[in-house]
Amino acid sequence: MRTQVGIIGAGPAGLLLSHILHLRGIDSVVLEKRDRTYVESRVRAGVLEQGTVNLLAEFGLGERLLREGLQHHGIEIRFGARSHRIDFDELTGGKGITVYGQQEVIKDLIAARLAANGRLLFNVDEVRVCEPLSENPCIRFRSGDEDRRLDCDFIAGCDGFHGVSRESIPAEAVTCFDRTYPFAWLGILVDAPPSSGELIYANSPDGFALHSMRSPAVSRNYIQCPPQDRIEDWPDERIWEALHKRLEMLPGWTLGEGGILEKSITPMRSFVCETMRYGRLLLAGDAAHIVPPTGAKGMNLAISDVDMLSRALAERYENGSEDLLNAYPENCLRQVWRRVHFSWHMTSLLHKFPGQSEFERRLQLAELEYLRKSPAASAALAENYVGFAF
Ligand code: APR
Ligand code: PHB
Repeated sequence: MRTQVGIIGAGPAGLLLSHILHLRGIDSVVLEKRDRTYVESRVRAGVLEQGTVNLLAEFGLGERLLREGLQHHGIEIRFGARSHRIDFDELTGGKGITVYGQQEVIKDLIAARLAANGRLLFNVDEVRVCEPLSENPCIRFRSGDEDRRLDCDFIAGCDGFHGVSRESIPAEAVTCFDRTYPFAWLGILVDAPPSSGELIYANSPDGFALHSMRSPAVSRNYIQCPPQDRIEDWPDERIWEALHKRLEMLPGWTLGEGGILEKSITPMRSFVCETMRYGRLLLAGDAAHIVPPTGAKGMNLAISDVDMLSRALAERYENGSEDLLNAYPENCLRQVWRRVHFSWHMTSLLHKFPGQSEFERRLQLAELEYLRKSPAASAALAENYVGFAF
């Protein structure tokens, strides 16, 4: 089998890259380890920056997103008995965010690829990147009972943090930066209308909690938990008890309960792989970097990488220049480190760290109070939350 760009992974990065390349007249094949139902139903984050929405709409993916996505003009931050609203309209000159689940983006992308007869192979196994430094790289893989080979001009490693692409770059060619946080997030999807029109991030004495949503009928809640906890440690009553305690800090506000549709625990880490290019292998999305979910940046970063990678490949095919491909790692990493910093900052501000001293707690409260009192501090948070590209 032959194509111009061989793409490993059918997450937001791989699928969007394949879609944009197709619109730019470049052929690709996507190889995915899991089956279609699995990737379409995997529950992940769901906040899209304005720039992400604009990009998806520009490439014809806005129809359901603009109809069903929930536009938000602010977020609420709670601490102690205080509440502070970050008003995006006022602080960012009218930019906002859209709440639309990642698996909805995936469904739209798969539908668009299949409608264009895109080649998407699910359930592939033993994927290997071969000869990325040569002019003729290829991907070897197993599909059904067959060993197969995909010859290509370029390979896009879009296979997430646990994929094979990053691992196929020799250790001496990369530097990785890693921080593991001493807590995880337990997330639940709930069959109940959201209890607030906007997302609520809470720093409570018992730890972090977040009230979010997916639709007018489905809410999404998270609580900080010890990183070694398993889902069996958290029966439904214990989750609700923690959510009520951590979120109901304001008199008169209550969190609505409902049937729990899904429960999962996600570890929290920041990770950056430098470089994002090794010869004709280009990394994008979680394959190259991970952020903790506190700033809701993971999918936005993956999409920002793909925007740059698709432009770089288009320039290469249209006029033979590799300037943008050469600049790809540097251009991406600038955006990556901004968001890595913001996600780390939000995480540090809002969580209860094990062994946290009273001094450190006071510093958190001082910063939250500063945010409440200073429009400049709130504007900095708002600017980053809605997406700061430079
Ligand atoms: N071979 C083929 N496919 C693979 C392999 C492999 N060896 N390893 C992983 N994959 C697939 C995964 O099954 C997944 O479908 O690659 C895809 C990677 O998708 P994501 O993990 O969603 O990564 P990405 O597309 O970069 O999107 C980043 O996803 O993890 C969230 O919060 C993160 O929102 C962010 C977004
Ligand atoms: C979500 O709705 O899943 C969500 C929202 C905001 C975050 C993280 C996750 O910061």
